[in-house]
Amino acid sequence: MQEKIAVLMGGQSLERDVSLISGKRVCDALEAQGYRVLALDVTPDLVTTLRSERPDAVYIALHGKYGEDGTVQELLEFLGIPYTGPGVTASALAWDKALSKRLFRAEGIPTPAWVTFTAAAFKQMGAATALDLVPGAVGGFPVVVKPAKQGSALGLTKVDGPEGLAEALLTALSYGDTAIVEKWIDGRELAVSVVDGPSGEARVFPPVEMEPKSGLFDFSAMYTPGETDYYVPARLDEPTMAEVTRMAERVHRLLGCERVSRVDMVVGGDGVPYVLEVNTSPGMTETSLLPMAAASAGLDFQELVGHLVRSTLDAAR
Ligand SMILES: Nc1ncnc2c1ncn2[C@@H]1O[C@H](COP(=O)(O)OP(=O)(O)O)[C@@H](O)[C@H]1O
Ligand SMILES: [Mg+2]
Repeated sequence: MQEKIAVLMGGQSLERDVSLISGKRVCDALEAQGYRVLALDVTPDLVTTLRSERPDAVYIALHGKYGEDGTVQELLEFLGIPYTGPGVTASALAWDKALSKRLFRAEGIPTPAWVTFTAAAFKQMGAATALDLVPGAVGGFPVVVKPAKQGSALGLTKVDGPEGLAEALLTALSYGDTAIVEKWIDGRELAVSVVDGPSGEARVFPPVEMEPKSGLFDFSAMYTPGETDYYVPARLDEPTMAEVTRMAERVHRLLGCERVSRVDMVVGGDGVPYVLEVNTSPGMTETSLLPMAAASAGLDFQELVGHLVRSTLDAAR
């Protein structure tokens, strides 16, 4: 009898709807391969259900807070249930852009210049009086203001001059307690997916290049078919392609991402691949980047999902 796989989806994060789409597609792919599949929305009954159903593994199709930040991973370890995707530490590091960017800088991995503000720095320490220092600290406008811990470009604003900074920070801080102000990099936008092979060797899929028609790869550009042009593999020359590939693998290893990660980058006009962030539960929707990259490497959606589940089951043996 085939193993029983619980697919976790939904939950209360702002990316709930995206996760439900990812989860449904993952369920279909697993059912088609003969697995016994249990689709589970994340509710307060989750632990009771997992304890009574005893799945052989969990496929985490959650995106955003609690699904991607180490929370659900920690819980599944406590319950003794193997799960797809990176572990607790890697998840927590990747989820927190302020933290992961510090790691990149310490390791000499290019990432756009930035400063971090917490809500407490504004509310309790008067940080608002020093916003005039921001352009000097990050190398001038335009900048991107975004929540440190969020996904799908939620709460993100591109700011062209000093007058827009305070409002963009307020927006970002309405999504969480920490915001990043980061130098805007003009260039080619890439998502580079990394999947570990059977013996743990990292396999970097062809980079996907995104060219949003609006100029900004925001929520709508990410999930509305036709709003973004995708190029797989990305339109890069040979040396840049090699550098981007090497960088993705380095970042995957640095954060300790097991099994899968997707590294978002922008290749600037200077040819440098600047790493923006790492995703540990990449989207699995119709327009998502990991499945697109896998397909270009000859792995269809079913094979991709099958590989992620099989490697989780094998590692747990
Ligand atoms: N510093 C930047 N320079 C240029 N574009 C950026 C920058 N930061 C974010 N973006 C754009 O916003 C999108 C979302 O930002 P990202 O850092 O990947 O956060 P998340 O995907 O977690 O919301 C990126 O894919 C990119 O299009
Ligand atoms: Mg991203």
